[in-house]
Order: sequence, then C-alpha cells, then structure tokens
Amino acid sequence: MGLLDGKKVLITGARKGIGRGIAITLAKEGADVGLNDIIEDEVSHKCVDIVSKQGVKASFHKGDVSRIDDINSVFDSFLDSHKKIDVLINNAIFPDQQRPFFETDEKYWDRMMNLSLKGYFFASQRAAKEMIDNNTGGRIICLSSVHSYVAMPNWTAYGTAKMALRRMVKGIAADLAGKNITANCIAPGAISNRLPDDIEDESIDGPPHKPEDFKRFIPAGIGGLPSDIANAVVYLSSHLGQYVNGETLLVDGGMIASQKIHE
Ligand SMILES: NC(=O)c1ccc[n+]([C@@H]2O[C@H](COP(=O)([O-])OP(=O)(O)OC[C@H]3O[C@@H](n4cnc5c(N)ncnc54)[C@H](O)[C@@H]3O)[C@@H](O)[C@H]2O)c1
Repeated sequence: MGLLDGKKVLITGARKGIGRGIAITLAKEGADVGLNDIIEDEVSHKCVDIVSKQGVKASFHKGDVSRIDDINSVFDSFLDSHKKIDVLINNAIFPDQQRPFFETDEKYWDRMMNLSLKGYFFASQRAAKEMIDNNTGGRIICLSSVHSYVAMPNWTAYGTAKMALRRMVKGIAADLAGKNITANCIAPGAISNRLPDDIEDESIDGPPHKPEDFKRFIPAGIGGLPSDIANAVVYLSSHLGQYVNGETLLVDGGMIASQKIHE
C-alpha cells in the first residue's frame, strides 16, 4: 500500500529534473500521474514509460503552461484520461533562470512572470475549480526556491517570482478556506536536475552535484537530488501533510539556515 494510492496527480515540467523525480516517486506511492512538459520527445516518453512501470496510470500532456489556453488544454486532456485531479504540482521552469540586472528586458521579465507566476496561478485556479466541483478536496504545491530567501547577483527576476509564490500559496489557502484544499510551496536548494546518463536508466535521480562545490555553504555538505524534493512532495500530498497550509517547506540541506550563504 502506498501513501497516495489512487490519487490523480498532474505535474508541470515533468520531462526531466525535479518534475521527473516527483513523477516516479509519486507513482511508487500509488498515484496515477499526468506529466506535462513543453517538450515532447524520446526522453518525455521514456519518463511516462518509467512511471507506468510502477503499476499506475501514466499520461503525457504537452503544453506551454505559461499560457492560459495551453493550461486549459493540458487540464482538459489530463481530465479526459484521469477524470479528476487530487494534486497539482506547479514545477515548470525554463533553463535560463539567471539574467544580469541590466540585461533583464521586458521580454525576459514577462517570460519569467508568465511562467512562474501567471502560469502557476491559473493552473492552481483551474485545479481548485475541478477539486471543488468534485467535492474531493485536494493539494496544490508550487516549486519556489532558496532564491526567494536570499538575493544573489543575476537572479532578481527569478527570485522575485519565487518569493511571490510563497505569498501566493498563503492567498490561495485563505481564498479556499473550508474547501479541504491546501496550497503550499516547496523551496529547493541546489538540486542536481541532470537526467541519468543512460536514457534506459530508470533511477529517480541522475548524477549528483560534486560535493566540493557545496561543502562550503551547505551544512549538509552535499547538493540535493530530485528524490529529496519528491519526498517532501509525498509528505505534503498525502494525509501526513494535511494540516500544513499556506506554508513553504525549505528543502535545502540547511543552506538558508547557515551563516555561510549570507557571507
Ligand atoms: N534544480 C534546482 O537546484 C532548483 C532549485 C530551486 C528551485 N528549483 C525549482 O524546481 C522546479 C524544477 O526545477 P528543475 O531544476 O528540475 O528544472 P529542469 O530544467 O530540470 O526541468 C524543468 C522542466 O520544465 C519544462 N518547461 C519549461 N518551460 C515550460 C513551459 N512553459 N511549460 C511546460 N513545461 C516547461 C522543461 O522542458 C523541463 O523539462 C522549478 O520550478 C525550479 O525553479 C530548482
């Protein structure tokens, strides 16, 4: 028996990295999983295959979740396959997350906010509508970041969006009072998002970061892995986390707690 038996979960940006790790981990806990990504290729198909090998239903829903039309078509397609939604994981991000202050133009700013704020908000709104219509309650989880706690050069647009998400889940928790829906963030630290070197490798995690890169400022002494974040998602998605609402769980090996990161 798994902690999420029969739950229907939609994960955005699940082709690789943390999203892929969450998809496989939740499937191992018995959840049926819909994987969204903007890229559909051999890698995303392999990920769906790995999830379905856990004995659950797995599906793929291509779409750009920075666009409301695509969010709705991803949800329509997900609901067509799974009939209802119990858990939404807002996870998608594009690769170029760092941008120097004076090179942050309107196009980049809008791209960041459209995906990380607008997209996460409207996907949450649609998920909540479905959960309320089904009278099932549910869970909304957004991936924030350590960059929402500390400022590092070149991360201002990203950090601003990630900090706003921490406020957004508080608002959603308040707005959905009495609906048996929780909304929370997970704020990862430095997590290796590399795929396993061999596409046939069905491990949750790919190669880790080099410990020497992180010893100096992370009390845990190592970088994190997708499984570290996925385990926190299991906690918040299952009955174990039912009384956590409007909150952000840092999963960073102590990075933000340590003085070193502030030096
Ligand atoms: N990896 C880290 O160290 C770290 C640290 C803090 C926070 N996070 C957060 O965790 C989440 C996952 O990060 P990751 O490192 O695993 O990312 P990743 O780059 O490994 O994967 C992100 C996925 O999102 C997809 N994607 C990009 N734009 C999309 C769009 N518009 N619509 C749908 N899919 C889209 C990509 O194709 C990719 O498959 C992000 O929200 C990120 O900000 C990651």
